[in-house]
Amino acid sequence: MSDTPSKTFPKRIFSGIQPSGGLTLGNYLGAIKRFVTAQDEGIETIYCLVDLHAITVWQDPAKLRHATRELAAGYLAAGIDPARSILFNQSQVPAHAELAWIFNCVARMGWLRRMTQFKDKAGKHAEEASVGLFAYPNLMAADILVYFATHVPVGEDQKQHLELARDIAIKFNHDFGVDFFPVVEPVIEGAATRVMSLRDGTKKMSKSDPSDQSRINLTDDADAIAQKIRKARTDPEPLPETIEGLEGRAEARNLVNIYAALADVTPGQVLSAHGGKGFGTFKPALAELAVEKLSPLNAEMRRLMQDPAEIDRLLGQGADRAHAIAQPILEQTLDIVGMIRSRGAGSGSGR
Ligand code: AMP
Ligand code: TRP
Repeated sequence: MSDTPSKTFPKRIFSGIQPSGGLTLGNYLGAIKRFVTAQDEGIETIYCLVDLHAITVWQDPAKLRHATRELAAGYLAAGIDPARSILFNQSQVPAHAELAWIFNCVARMGWLRRMTQFKDKAGKHAEEASVGLFAYPNLMAADILVYFATHVPVGEDQKQHLELARDIAIKFNHDFGVDFFPVVEPVIEGAATRVMSLRDGTKKMSKSDPSDQSRINLTDDADAIAQKIRKARTDPEPLPETIEGLEGRAEARNLVNIYAALADVTPGQVLSAHGGKGFGTFKPALAELAVEKLSPLNAEMRRLMQDPAEIDRLLGQGADRAHAIAQPILEQTLDIVGMIRSRGAGSGSGR
């Protein structure tokens, strides 16, 4: 039997973001903005607020609830339309956690030990890390495969996790002699798959960076955005005319990429327009663009957050739709594995 499933799956996009703190410009450009594009292209899109992933490190319960609603507001403000995309929080669809258990029994210890995100997050304290943090990629594989999703738009940092999801699908299909799960395609494209810190061009912009100056938060107001860009670390040279000229200039490259992603142009086009200018000219242009693009989003997020009950209602509706897709796939999986499914009349396969 070939390891590549021969079954063809309709194109279905799935992605997720953790509600563990505020959203950054990195999340917006590397993920949410691209989620909206996929939705607007008319592809079937499922977007998840992965609250079960968030608790792999400690979360204060009240803050987690707030961050989940704020993340939902971020998706909606950016243009995710709950009528066209399925938008929900992971814990309301129990099939994710159930399939993750099956995958805990498919994935190997050695596969997970190689995950760089675990090594980064657990650091020197791996013995004190939660078991959930270690098994995190198995739950992520379950998120995707419980919908037979075929394409997963993410930032560069998630590439290794998606390779693991592919390995899990292949091993499951192989071990049980079935052609069941699709082998997912990571979609890592565009100028902003890795937005870097404004203080250090070698580090990813992250909501967990201790320095708030290192990132633009989607909740920052116009003054804060402009001030952070003005203070962003750069070198004294003017911008080059070509991409090759950005070699060895991580901070300059980052600002050019951010500009390109915000303006929906290529980094080459940014350099054609701004090459030769110093940062004294380029930074104000970038700040103006960032404020123009992010301010409406910020205002809409704040408006939506005034009605948390409405956000919860939308998430509940999304969860119902997600459950309707996920539950039958979970049932089939459990049947393949050899679990008796006899609740309700005649639901077993009789194998
Ligand atoms: P997280 O906030 O870690 O749950 O990430 C959610 C999504 O945002 C994932 O697709 C990440 O790859 C993406 N992402 C997070 N930080 C960045 C960044 N600095 N640049 C580009 N994408 C990012
Ligand atoms: N691990 C992802 C992150 O931190 C979030 C995530 C969880 C995800 N499940 C997913 C992304 C499924 C894509 C598909 O960025």
